[in-house]
Amino acid sequence: MNALLIQALTQKLGLPPAVFLEETTSTNDEALRLAEAGAPDETLVVADYQTRGRGRMGRSWITRKGSALAFSLVLRPRSREEERLELFSPLGALSVASALEDLGLQPQVKWPNDVLLNRRKVCGILVEASWTGERLTALVVGIGVNVAPSAVPPDEWLIYPATSVEEITGHPVDRMAVLEAILLAFRRWRHELGSDHFMKAWQERLAFLEEEVVVQPPGQSSLRGRLLGVDGEGNLRLQLAGGEEIKLAAGDINLRPVT
Ligand code: ATP
Ligand code: BTN
Repeated sequence: MNALLIQALTQKLGLPPAVFLEETTSTNDEALRLAEAGAPDETLVVADYQTRGRGRMGRSWITRKGSALAFSLVLRPRSREEERLELFSPLGALSVASALEDLGLQPQVKWPNDVLLNRRKVCGILVEASWTGERLTALVVGIGVNVAPSAVPPDEWLIYPATSVEEITGHPVDRMAVLEAILLAFRRWRHELGSDHFMKAWQERLAFLEEEVVVQPPGQSSLRGRLLGVDGEGNLRLQLAGGEEIKLAAGDINLRPVT
């Protein structure tokens, strides 16, 4: 992976000029900076190595050299998209899932923002927004995918078990090809953001459907229930032991299967 290959890819896909960095703190930092400087919709920032990659709530995301995909897209949401901002994280997950399906894999989406292979995390997505007062000026969708086994951090660093694409395929996988497939799928699913087809595709790929799970909303005690799916707003539907159904908005909720 290098700047020339990234430029060639963005030209082929008709994307605006991209930024490739051998090393950066976080591609989301760089994309937010570019957004403030006026970068157009679909500007891509790719890095080979992140020194301070991040997940939600300032948790860290490890990106090692030569083994992963770490990239961010600057988006300028259109007005109808602004009404569905909560769906951009599932949009990223659905796009990565579609790209992995092209490789013959069976990914699942761990609500709301992770992609799993064999029930282990292979990809994380972090969506951040840039505001001017009350006005949304840009959205940055950051995606990290473990491609080679060396991308996977040691178990003791992780809250949730992880894997890589190559551990599951059993053969080498070209990072550039995965990136291209994700970008193509992203465009396709973005056109359908919030449509019945989009919501159904997300629901069909949900991890732990009909299984007992534990969710941990911030500052509250954990809840245990059966995972029923997502509703039209993207909320998680959970059936508690007494039969009552509750809905949870994404926020900072951790979801785990009961093992
Ligand atoms: P979780 O993944 O723990 O269920 P989450 O979706 O909220 O929760 P974040 O906290 O946003 O995840 O993402 C950061 C977490 O991802 C870290 O806490 C760490 O456990 C995990 N992580 C960091 N780097 C990697 C990686 N390369 N592959 C898989 N998981 C990673
Ligand atoms: C998560 O696991 O929930 C989110 C992880 C998001 C990681 C990607 S890698 C590219 C972009 N840059 C970052 O610092 N984070 C995202």
